[in-house]
Amino acid sequence: MLEQPERRPSRRDEAQSKDTRKVTIAASVACANFLRLEDDLRALEAAGVEYLHIDIMDGQFVPNFSLNTDIMKAARQVTALPMDVHLMVERPERYIEPFVSAGGSIIVVHQECVTHLQRTLAEIRRHGAQAGVALNPATPLQTIEYVIEDVDFLLLMTVNPGFYGQKLVPSALRKIADARALCERHGRDIPICVDGNVSLENAPKMVAAGADFLVGGTSSIFMRGGTIAEGARRLREVIGQPAR
Ligand code: DX5
Ligand code: ZN
Repeated sequence: MLEQPERRPSRRDEAQSKDTRKVTIAASVACANFLRLEDDLRALEAAGVEYLHIDIMDGQFVPNFSLNTDIMKAARQVTALPMDVHLMVERPERYIEPFVSAGGSIIVVHQECVTHLQRTLAEIRRHGAQAGVALNPATPLQTIEYVIEDVDFLLLMTVNPGFYGQKLVPSALRKIADARALCERHGRDIPICVDGNVSLENAPKMVAAGADFLVGGTSSIFMRGGTIAEGARRLREVIGQPAR
């Protein structure tokens, strides 16, 4: 009897697997109510949010400032949620140690800010954290192709970095799909994080394009007029992964 050729997963299987890809929900702490930060952190944990997204800004790479290691250490006193640290800072290799010590388990550097990206990613791993790289909307995916083996976490800015409440850059959806294809081409099954205007309308499109790590901010989890619990629940609902 002829050997049955290895059955390649059909495009439907692949589409199905992409649809059933578990999506991680993170909350952009920079969008929290700082007058009630402890309450918000406890509400995030109770709402099933899985990561605290920590935005760090230096006023150089982006024209703004936001969180710091003190906030991370304070957060660690009320929640054990892991933290992904989004370094929007020039020459971030100077700060790997302090942000890992403050509790960062994923350290994300902007490709645009690093001269020696492969060395910096290796250095983050050497400190025991997962090595993340972030790309601005205009930055080509090809800039990380030759370090894809050194990348544990890919963050695609879906707005221009520096501020919350901005609108999605339209090309971002195409870029998410291209990023997932790049990872698959290299056999790298790494999280593709989207950060910026992850709204109830945009989130399903981002997940369908291949994103599986959503940073919820003012257009979902911290939506004005709603509660954190409602925002997190609705975000999970629109991507078809309601909390169990
Ligand atoms: C922007 C930050 C995002 C932002 C998300 O530079 O990296 O995390 O705070 O906020 P929204 O979801 O309102 O765009
Ligand atoms: Zn961010």
